Amino acid sequence: MIALDQVHKRYAGSPVAALDGVSLEVARGEVFGVIGASGAGKSTLIRLVNALEVPSAGRVTVEGIDLATLSPGGLRALRRRIGMIFQNFGLLSSRTVADNVAFPLKLAGVPRAERAAKTAALLDRVGLGDHAGKYPAQLSGGQKQRVGIARALATDPDILLCDEATSALDPETTRSVLDLLRALNRELGLTILLITHEMDVVRAVCDRVAVLDRGTVVETGRVADIFAGAAHPVTRRMLAGVGA
Ligand SMILES: Nc1ncnc2c1ncn2[C@@H]1O[C@H](COP(=O)(O)OP(=O)(O)OP(=O)(O)O)[C@@H](O)[C@H]1O
Ligand SMILES: [Mg+2]
Repeated sequence: MIALDQVHKRYAGSPVAALDGVSLEVARGEVFGVIGASGAGKSTLIRLVNALEVPSAGRVTVEGIDLATLSPGGLRALRRRIGMIFQNFGLLSSRTVADNVAFPLKLAGVPRAERAAKTAALLDRVGLGDHAGKYPAQLSGGQKQRVGIARALATDPDILLCDEATSALDPETTRSVLDLLRALNRELGLTILLITHEMDVVRAVCDRVAVLDRGTVVETGRVADIFAGAAHPVTRRMLAGVGA
């Protein structure tokens, strides 16, 4: 579904590579985690998958299509198939909850009545049916992220990218948002690529995980296997912080 093949990324003017030969494959329908410390290259990796950045070398493919070969129209079509949620939610503060969710539909030229119906269904699905007319400032962090999820799903994507989507939330709210992501993964067959610095998040929701350290994948495997016995010292250090 998503593949990185020997991907290098060096930002202009930077002496070190943000990603240094990363290869990984995310299968359709799985929840795949990428965990790493600050600066490991996690956001860079996720931004390469929706072509917000281009690799300095190597290939990023989505369903076998090399993103570097896409025309501007092809890129727009690709982005409609990829939803994204963020640590700071990225909501428009001057727009209501419903308008935030409807925004991608408006951009896609969906007629007003269809937008309204779709938005209502999405808000119901994320448990915010009664909050459509509120503004983001009137919501809790967990509710804001649910709006983010509803908006990300508006164009019926097959892939959801999550960049530290629960890092601003308390543990209980984190759990409920992760439960929602898991449920959406099962219901919709949504493929989820999730970036985090917390092993607890990986354990709660991921099928497989890649451990990123200073731009390199040091270990990849099924989450159960990693928890049963991680091979790499970086992974073991990350596991040391996790409650039993
Ligand atoms: N636009 C940019 N220009 C130059 N260097 C950048 C840019 N974005 C990221 N970097 C550098 O690339 C490296 C990887 O950054 P990245 O944001 O991918 O890390 P991260 O794992 O997401 O970190 P965090 O957990 O803090 O979000 C860092 O050294 C960072 O300083
Ligand atoms: Mg980041």
